This record gives sequence, structure tokens and C-alpha cells, in this order.
Amino acid sequence: MFDITGKHAIITGGAQGLGKAMVKGFHQAGVELAVIDISDEVFNLPELEVNDCKIHPIKGDLLDFDSIEKIFNEALEKLNGRVDILINSAGLIKRMPAKEFDIEVWNRIMSLNVLSVFELSKHAALKMKEQQAGKIINFGSIVSVIGAYHSSAYSASKGGVVQLTKSLSNEWAQYGIQVNAIAPGYMETTMNSDLKGDPVRKKQVDERIPAKRWGTPEDVCGVALFLSSPASDYVSGTLLPVDGGVLGR
Ligand SMILES: NC(=O)c1ccc[n+]([C@@H]2O[C@H](COP(=O)([O-])OP(=O)(O)OC[C@H]3O[C@@H](n4cnc5c(N)ncnc54)[C@H](O)[C@@H]3O)[C@@H](O)[C@H]2O)c1
Repeated sequence: MFDITGKHAIITGGAQGLGKAMVKGFHQAGVELAVIDISDEVFNLPELEVNDCKIHPIKGDLLDFDSIEKIFNEALEKLNGRVDILINSAGLIKRMPAKEFDIEVWNRIMSLNVLSVFELSKHAALKMKEQQAGKIINFGSIVSVIGAYHSSAYSASKGGVVQLTKSLSNEWAQYGIQVNAIAPGYMETTMNSDLKGDPVRKKQVDERIPAKRWGTPEDVCGVALFLSSPASDYVSGTLLPVDGGVLGR
């Protein structure tokens, strides 16, 4: 029920953070991977290989909408034309007061966090429809649900991811494609290093987490594996928090 051996997956933003933990976890689960990232670090990922399943690195900028189809096709080609799982993990955040936000930063955040997810999902769904099976996993956040502080564009984008996830599920669940989103809480990643480095904010966050610890990238990987496996074949259009209980408060 949880076996995904031999599946083919595309993971975006896999060069670091949550994406990298999923690259490791999915590789160990026997999945062949194409990993798309703007960072040169993506080329180091094959060093993680511990079995015969390949990790194919693809350097690409998902904010370059003239090239996004080409980037997707390169990933698909590496996977011999089959994609069973698409994980849209690449994301951007900028923390600053709303009145200081300039429109260019706003557009970059919305474009990567929502529009690139939409574009890649469309390309993947075409293949998945032919296969009558597929899993698409998007990345929301706890700020898809609660409002963020000093991250208005990010929060708006992550709210958008939830509605996009539901809308795509409404269209594609009939083809055996499950579209879901994960909502990580406060995770031990570089995305949160400034938050963790601020003693006042860190104390406020610590007090909000019922589990009494920040999440790890591996916490997220376990849920992504579930959402990629047959065990979740009747789960679609949902937002699954991985937040140590924060959204339950
Ligand atoms: N870390 C957290 O606490 C947290 C909490 C909630 C949601 N999330 C979401 O989870 C996802 C992963 O978060 P993370 O902490 O691993 O982030 P991260 O910043 O550590 O990694 C993001 C990755 O995306 C890549 N990337 C950035 N811009 C790109 C572009 N234009 N084209 C291609 N790749 C690009 C980066 O190079 C990086 O490898 C994101 O969508 C994030 O918003 C994270």
C-alpha cells in the first residue's frame, strides 16, 4: 500500500531544504528522480545515490516562463517519458513590512509560488491523464490558513496554492490524478534562519508549537511519501498540515 518502488518523480527546489530531504527519501524508496533547481547545488545531488535509482539534476529557472515547458520536457526525457509524481517544492519568501513591499518582489514571489506550480502541473497532468494515474504535491504553508506577519506576498501566494490545489483536483481527480498540498509549519530550514535567530520571535514561535519542537525536513518527507503512494489514492484536493499541531490551536 505504501510501495512506490520504480515510480518516476519530478521534484522542484530539490537542491536544499525540504526539497533535498524529499530527494533523499524518495531515492531511498526506489524512485527515479529528475530534480529541477536554479542552484548549481543541484549537480551535487547524484552523490546521494545509494541504490540503482538515478537522480537526474536539471538546472533551470522556474521564473523563466518562456523556458518552463522546455525545462519540464528535459526532466520528462530523463525519466524516459513517464512521470508518476510531481512535487512542486521550489518557493520564495521575503519578510518585510507590507508598506515597504515593492511590486517586483511581490511578482517574483507570486510567480514562483503559484504560477510556476500551475504551469508545471498542467504539463505533468497531460502525461498523467494518458497514464490515468498521477500524484501532484504542492507546497502551501501554515500561512495558507493563518495570516503571516511581515510576509504578505508569501502568505497571499500560499493561500493561492491551496485554492489552485483544490481547483486542479476538481478537474483531474476523475483521471486518477490526486492533487494535494502540504502545509509545513515552523521548520528547521534556512528559510526560517532569520526567524530562529531573532530571540523575541523565536520565543513567540516556540510557545505556539504544541509539539514543543520545530519540524525537520524529514517530517515533511514522510507525508510526501504517503501522498505519493497508493495509500492516498482517495485523498485529493486537501491541505495536509505538518506543523506539530500549530493549526489546531
Ligand atoms: N521551511 C519552512 O519552514 C517552510 C514552511 C512552510 C512552507 N514552506 C514551503 O516549502 C517549500 C520548500 O521550502 P524550503 O524551506 O525547502 O525552501 P528553501 O528556500 O530551502 O529551498 C527552495 C529551493 O527552491 C530553489 N529555487 C528558488 N527559486 C527558484 C527558481 N526560480 N527556479 C528553480 N528553483 C528555485 C532554491 O534554489 C532552493 O533550492 C517552499 O515552497 C516553501 O515556501 C517551507
